Amino acid sequence: MEPTSGNQGIGLALVGAVKGYRTVIIMPDSVSEERRKLIQHCGAELILIHDDGDIGKCIDECIKRALKMKEEDPRVYVPQQFENPNNTLVHKNHTALEIMEQVAGPIHGFCSGIGTGGTITGIGEVLKAKYPFIEIWAVEPENAAILAGGNIGTHVQMGIGDGLIPPILNKEIYDSIYVVSDEEAIETARRLARDEGLMCGISSGTNVAAAIKLAEKLGPGKTVVTVLPDTAERYFSTPLFE
Ligand SMILES: Cc1ncc(COP(=O)(O)O)c(C=O)c1O
Repeated sequence: MEPTSGNQGIGLALVGAVKGYRTVIIMPDSVSEERRKLIQHCGAELILIHDDGDIGKCIDECIKRALKMKEEDPRVYVPQQFENPNNTLVHKNHTALEIMEQVAGPIHGFCSGIGTGGTITGIGEVLKAKYPFIEIWAVEPENAAILAGGNIGTHVQMGIGDGLIPPILNKEIYDSIYVVSDEEAIETARRLARDEGLMCGISSGTNVAAAIKLAEKLGPGKTVVTVLPDTAERYFSTPLFE
């Protein structure tokens, strides 16, 4: 049983299928149709909670619903991605090492949108230890810039900007916060497909929009890294393809 706005729901549905567990994914109804279909395709049950313009409130309701199910049935396990330390550990022990293996030379900048905060915390901690001079940016959607002190509304950069400050987020790891509008995220994701042949999702556009600004700030000869969390095929039903 897991509340999520990102791709974890799909991953958990797959794990449930392989392990033979009954899996229930609880998501805001503002996430893409493709996510819902993929989850059900893997045999998981889906509960949609209405997002009436406040993603933080909606995610909170998703979490409460999962915890209530756990209270009612002791066999229920809620992975709790927003507070599960294994989330960060996977990025520390795998993603960060893959990045260092694949990037030649020092890394001067790193940025990532924050959903659970696992990516920026895990990768950020490893990169900062290896390259103490690195500049790290936390990236937030304009309509859910909770770290930057903005208002929480709803937005299309699904997977990040869930309207809460996740307990596993290391707030010491980033140097600045960069805010990206839905339009900029979508436009950048489209440019990634057209100009680079990289078919990716909207939060990848968010990350690359911020990475370009960070690269401009750091200047020529510097290496900036970010991640592209998922693929464009999960967004046919969203404004990315309008
Ligand atoms: C599409 C997408 N983008 C970004 C993220 C953010 O990553 P994190 O939860 O590690 O902060 C997620 C999380 O799963 C995601 O599914």
